[in-house]
Amino acid sequence: MTTQPTPSAHSTHPAQPEPFDAVDIIAAKRDRHRLTEAQIDWVIDAYTRGVVADEQMSALAMAIYLNGMDRGEIARWTDAMIRSGGRMDFSALDRPTADKHSTGGVGDKITLPLAPLVAAFGVSVPQLSGRGLGHTGGTLDKLESIPGWRADLSHDEIMEMLSVRGPGAVICAAGAGLAPADKKLYALRDTTGTVSCVPLIASSIMSKKIAEGTGALILDVKVGSGAFMKEQTQARELAETMVALGKDAGVTTRALLTDMSTPLGLTAGNALEVREALDVLSGGGPADVVALTVALAAEMLDAAGRPTGQDELRAALADGRAMDVWREMIRRQDGDPDAPLPTAPEKEVVVAPADGVLTRLDALGVGVAAWRLGAGRARKEDPVQAVAGVEIHAKPGDTVRAGEPLLTLHTATPERFERAREALTDAMIVCPADAPEARAAVARREAGVVLDRIV
Ligand code: URA
Repeated sequence: MTTQPTPSAHSTHPAQPEPFDAVDIIAAKRDRHRLTEAQIDWVIDAYTRGVVADEQMSALAMAIYLNGMDRGEIARWTDAMIRSGGRMDFSALDRPTADKHSTGGVGDKITLPLAPLVAAFGVSVPQLSGRGLGHTGGTLDKLESIPGWRADLSHDEIMEMLSVRGPGAVICAAGAGLAPADKKLYALRDTTGTVSCVPLIASSIMSKKIAEGTGALILDVKVGSGAFMKEQTQARELAETMVALGKDAGVTTRALLTDMSTPLGLTAGNALEVREALDVLSGGGPADVVALTVALAAEMLDAAGRPTGQDELRAALADGRAMDVWREMIRRQDGDPDAPLPTAPEKEVVVAPADGVLTRLDALGVGVAAWRLGAGRARKEDPVQAVAGVEIHAKPGDTVRAGEPLLTLHTATPERFERAREALTDAMIVCPADAPEARAAVARREAGVVLDRIV
């Protein structure tokens, strides 16, 4: 059930003078002072009401970006953003709930097989998702490549999907009512160079996830060139901050740090990624995608009080239990699970320049190429091509021969090939098989994508 936004003292008495001046709050953070709880509550509420202007919030976001916030400030900022809107309440459901949030990466289609896999074990998965911006893809964009599938559901439809009468999992658009302060602020940060900042990312993600009302939350914090966090120490700080915020709000929260130096799986792009997710749900698919799906599912089920072994989870992918849930999820949202996925009319192959071992396939380069081929958007109103993207034929650690295909570029608009190829200029390196880089790439592949776990 969605509750009404908590009205603030200010919004119920518009004639009252405002208790703070935005300029004083900006100056306080500029001068490295701690913001008080009252200042934070007011600035978030006043920004949501339009009393604090975009240019003032931009200045404050930049001051926070440069000077940070301590844990207490971040917790209050998160809470104020939650209180800017309504909250979902799943306590009437007859099953526990668990959700996963990824900080975003290239080829990250994990939600697609993960949600039905977890639901197949009796835990409901409310995946209220967004669209992609920049080089990372959005889950809704991927699913919209399935003919007929609809992202927007009513509150009652969401509850029906999550109940025992439904498939037990739902992937749909997050309504406008959850953390509206974050919606406004995230759009502003995107245009003011203030996205990649731990306090702002942590509060942005956790305000939405706590407002969503899940009982357990597993965070997939990406590290590497294709992620917000390029270094593991930075990613760990983000993960620890989010885990603490979740626990303080009564949500069982854990995090995995996972590698995003190279794309996940063998596809980046909307319909291409759905096809790969279907391979996983059919018991196949690339080893790294299967391993991460199973690792995250095990964490979600354990955090929701239904511990399940990884062998059992792999069995549910192989024997069609997770696929049955997927088909029901798609059908209930007017999608046709049997309809052929669209394919690109134009393709170009990128080949290996030499014999050896592929030591680098850079996630950012591939993500930008997929984006330039039409898979992603530069502005939130832009359309995306379902068919566009990059198909990957070799991953770091693989042996390749000169002239062999490394990538196939897909698009509906061939004039995009040139710019996509430019993005890949330094993205691939092939080394002689006896070079130390080649041995390191093989070792990294064998180590797997999960780098660390924070509980
Ligand atoms: N995803 C979000 O929802 N917010 C951020 O700030 C970054 C990634």
